[in-house]
Amino acid sequence: MKQYKVGIIGGTGMVGQRFITLMENHPWFRLTAIAASSRSAGKPYAEAVGERWALDVPMPEEAKGIIVQDAEADAEKIAAEVDFCFCAVDMKKEDIRALEEKYAKLECPVVSNNSAHRWTDDVPMVVPEINADHIEIIEAQRKRLGTKRGFIAVKSNCSLQSYIPAMHPLKKYGIQQALVCTYQAISGAGKTFDRWPEMVDNVIPYIGGEEEKSEQEPLKLWGHIEGDKIVKAEGPSITAQCFRVACQDGHMAAVFLKFADGCKPDMEQIKADWAAFRGPAQELDLPSAPKQFLHYFEEENRPQTKLDRNIEGGMAVSIGRLRPDSQYDYKFVCLSHNTLRGAAGGAVLLAELLCAKDYI
Ligand SMILES: NC(=O)c1ccc[n+]([C@@H]2O[C@H](COP(=O)([O-])OP(=O)(O)OC[C@H]3O[C@@H](n4cnc5c(N)ncnc54)[C@H](OP(=O)(O)O)[C@@H]3O)[C@@H](O)[C@H]2O)c1
Repeated sequence: MKQYKVGIIGGTGMVGQRFITLMENHPWFRLTAIAASSRSAGKPYAEAVGERWALDVPMPEEAKGIIVQDAEADAEKIAAEVDFCFCAVDMKKEDIRALEEKYAKLECPVVSNNSAHRWTDDVPMVVPEINADHIEIIEAQRKRLGTKRGFIAVKSNCSLQSYIPAMHPLKKYGIQQALVCTYQAISGAGKTFDRWPEMVDNVIPYIGGEEEKSEQEPLKLWGHIEGDKIVKAEGPSITAQCFRVACQDGHMAAVFLKFADGCKPDMEQIKADWAAFRGPAQELDLPSAPKQFLHYFEEENRPQTKLDRNIEGGMAVSIGRLRPDSQYDYKFVCLSHNTLRGAAGGAVLLAELLCAKDYI
């Protein structure tokens, strides 16, 4: 397989740090450039991050000495050095949109963690097991941008990375309604307990913008390409409440599902569908793809955030406690690692798909 030179924009942040660790020993990708704000530019990576290193694994040696560049001022230089870049920055939405388009127009494909372009009509928002075919919209996007190579592709929000994979193989039965409550880790806000002491021993029942993303983004994932845009699906309708809880990593969701009249599968059928579910990521044997995407636990106290978030390198989804419900048809619990599958890992898997399909 070809080797790809990779830049990480926002490499000093929480998600950026995950990207840096995922490049270490990646069979296809080689970390070539790191960019962040002007505050970090000009410093070796280890110095720019300093005390902010937030992961439980050490900073990769190969990254420590790389001089961090200025994501905006050095864009042309970075775009010329790399085959594509990942982007995870904390900036105003319109500034992120402009920054990502700038790189795309410099013929540098951008695989983004940011939400800024998720609703741009011709930007594919992809979970490779669910809607890999949406990458075909890239040709239309390149026409709009006037590029040959450059484009933007995004991954969806971290909150829905547990329950959408669990719902997807059941859609064929006609899911009518879903209710989800998410219990989201503090790394999802780019924080550790040291930097967010109010979160110790606490639950905050509000995460700005998260409930709307949790309800709406699935409809784009389940949408289809029509001409030069992705048209969102009409359903199933999802209602969500999103809480911040005192966990470092791992977003859990409590899910209730109602099927159309007469369409309800039995519990054994649902478990069989989850066990059998594979997507293009598994079929193409992409390096970051979990072998078994959905893991069902029969134990009644699993999945647990601390015990199960790292299954298959944090790229698989765990499910448990499937049982009948008195108002909906069924309820269950699911879990995914928010900065791995839900952020950097999900973007790396998307980049692998784009490379395997010759878009990069
Ligand atoms: N954390 C998660 O689980 C998660 C999940 C999904 C999506 N996301 C999204 O990923 C993005 C990054 O989140 P995060 O948690 O990693 O944030 P973070 O830890 O606050 O990191 C922000 C990064 O953005 C850089 N930055 C800030 N202003 C900049 C500017 N003007 N120009 C260039 N770079 C700039 C920072 O560089 P300096 O170090 O130089 O300041 C840093 O590298 C956000 O859009 C977030 O919504 C996060």
